[in-house]
Amino acid sequence: MTLIEWSPQFSLGVAELDNEHRDLLQIINRLYEQIQSGHYQTTVIDALEELHGSAANHFAHEEEIMRNRHYAKFDEHHADHRRLLAEITAMIHQCQDGIDDDEAMAKWLYEWFSHHSKTHDAPLHQLLFV
Ligand SMILES: [Fe+2]
Ligand SMILES: [Fe+2]
Repeated sequence: MTLIEWSPQFSLGVAELDNEHRDLLQIINRLYEQIQSGHYQTTVIDALEELHGSAANHFAHEEEIMRNRHYAKFDEHHADHRRLLAEITAMIHQCQDGIDDDEAMAKWLYEWFSHHSKTHDAPLHQLLFV
């Protein structure tokens, strides 16, 4: 089952960044299937670590573009990226501690991507790429 389908609302209008958003969604959807299978101590933690690595690369790329374009809301966008990475780390620790609430984790995962997309990436798209 898919947690988040790709949608044009996730597009920044820059092919490389959009491909990175697609890759993040693939990891998120795979992670969602793994959450449902209940293998927290192994596959879910591995997938969260993969999500952290891919997200860190994507965020650095987005930040480089924002810096180059002198984006006015750089600081708050950058801060939200740091928050998102810290949340993944906290979730990895929760899983290591054996907390395995499927519903809460799926809800967190959905919000993790879609909230930042709406509140930070969509305005970036509007200001820089339309
Ligand atoms: Fe993004
Ligand atoms: Fe972003």
